[in-house]
Amino acid sequence: MAARMDVLLGAQWGDEGKGKVVDVVAPEYNVIARFQGGPNAGHTLIFEGKKHVLHTIPSGVFREGTTNLVGNGVVIDPVIFLKEIKALDAVGLDVRKSLLISRRAHLILPTHRALDAASEAEKGTSKIGSTLKGIGPTYMDKTGRNGLRIGDLELPDSMDRFLALTKKHERLLEQYGKPDAPAEAREEWLAAVEVIRGLQLVDSEHYLDNALRNGQRVLAEGAQGTLLDIDFGTYPFVTSSNTISAGACTGLGVAPNRIGTITGIFKAYCTRVGSGPFPTELLDDTGEMIRKAGHEFGSTTGRPRRCGWLDLPALHYAVMINGITELAMMKADVLSGMDTVQVCTGYTVNGKRTDRMPYDVSGEIKPILEPMEGWGELRTEAPLPASFERYIAMVEERVGVPITLISLGPDRAETVRRQPTFAR
Ligand code: IMP
Repeated sequence: MAARMDVLLGAQWGDEGKGKVVDVVAPEYNVIARFQGGPNAGHTLIFEGKKHVLHTIPSGVFREGTTNLVGNGVVIDPVIFLKEIKALDAVGLDVRKSLLISRRAHLILPTHRALDAASEAEKGTSKIGSTLKGIGPTYMDKTGRNGLRIGDLELPDSMDRFLALTKKHERLLEQYGKPDAPAEAREEWLAAVEVIRGLQLVDSEHYLDNALRNGQRVLAEGAQGTLLDIDFGTYPFVTSSNTISAGACTGLGVAPNRIGTITGIFKAYCTRVGSGPFPTELLDDTGEMIRKAGHEFGSTTGRPRRCGWLDLPALHYAVMINGITELAMMKADVLSGMDTVQVCTGYTVNGKRTDRMPYDVSGEIKPILEPMEGWGELRTEAPLPASFERYIAMVEERVGVPITLISLGPDRAETVRRQPTFAR
């Protein structure tokens, strides 16, 4: 019988812990497919005391028997991709057999990275806070119909295409008054491309169609988070792709009526890296405490993440825009030991109460906070404290979706699967 494709994505500003959850549920799936983003992502997985960070390769690679597909919606930097493969080689994992790449995925060139840096520098204080991995310029070339795709590497004139696009970028860099990408970067890129050419390049939309027809279980893995979505995030402080569930359809070529469950991953608090509105941000000792206890430093850039209380209107928005059917709550253990935790139930914008992020995000957005009783230590093998159960029930009630997984630590073993007590 034909199967449906489940989706797993970030319900906040990224860094929710998607990598860990994908790793935990991967044994239930035959195929894990990344649908957007690129090496701006950093999916951290910890098991048997070891930490692994993936940027482009799907988080199912550590589970034997899982096929990992990089979809057409992803942008690939061959140099970073090759480094990831080598890092996996180093831990005895040859992913070449289980890794498929869509021919329609676009390539990040060294000049895309240079353009990203030039554009950010030009923006000055209003910069996005990009990871500078070339994501924006690559998606611009995709929609501008100039891009170089993975499948182009199989064509006889691929080098000409690369040189033509590079030349175009050089002209743009000249306008910015910035130098071209260094020659070594180009050499490194061309060498990495040779390796990618030898990997399994597929028409992934047909691959997934067959897989689903044959009853295989497919999980679409998102990167970044809903509030960084190019259409529905806090524009312009967003990434350049559709991070929402609709992006799984366009980023993999799977029709909307074939989607099954949609799991939203969120932290018991909020974080954000880079610029842009963050209504519940804590600029005090509590924020610092959460950053330290939660190790809230970017896994791709190492930047300290901004930390704040859980934002319920934003989570509710994520539930709406993605059609989230279940939620996974991460890192509640980080808040353990606090007498009181706060949750945001609305905002004040220009003196008026609202529960929506305003169109113009440049002004002040003040959170309306409600206190909740804190909780002590959370352990997978012990019953959850009553005050924490109340926190869970409050979130379910406010956003209207059951929480079916709770993560109480970074290790794959520190995870509780929950029978939903909340019915939608
Ligand atoms: P870009 O996607 O690198 O251009 O970055 C755009 C914005 O998205 C910046 O604020 C980044 O910090 C943020 N961002 C991009 N990727 C991630 C991610 O994987 N986690 C969290 N924030 C991200």
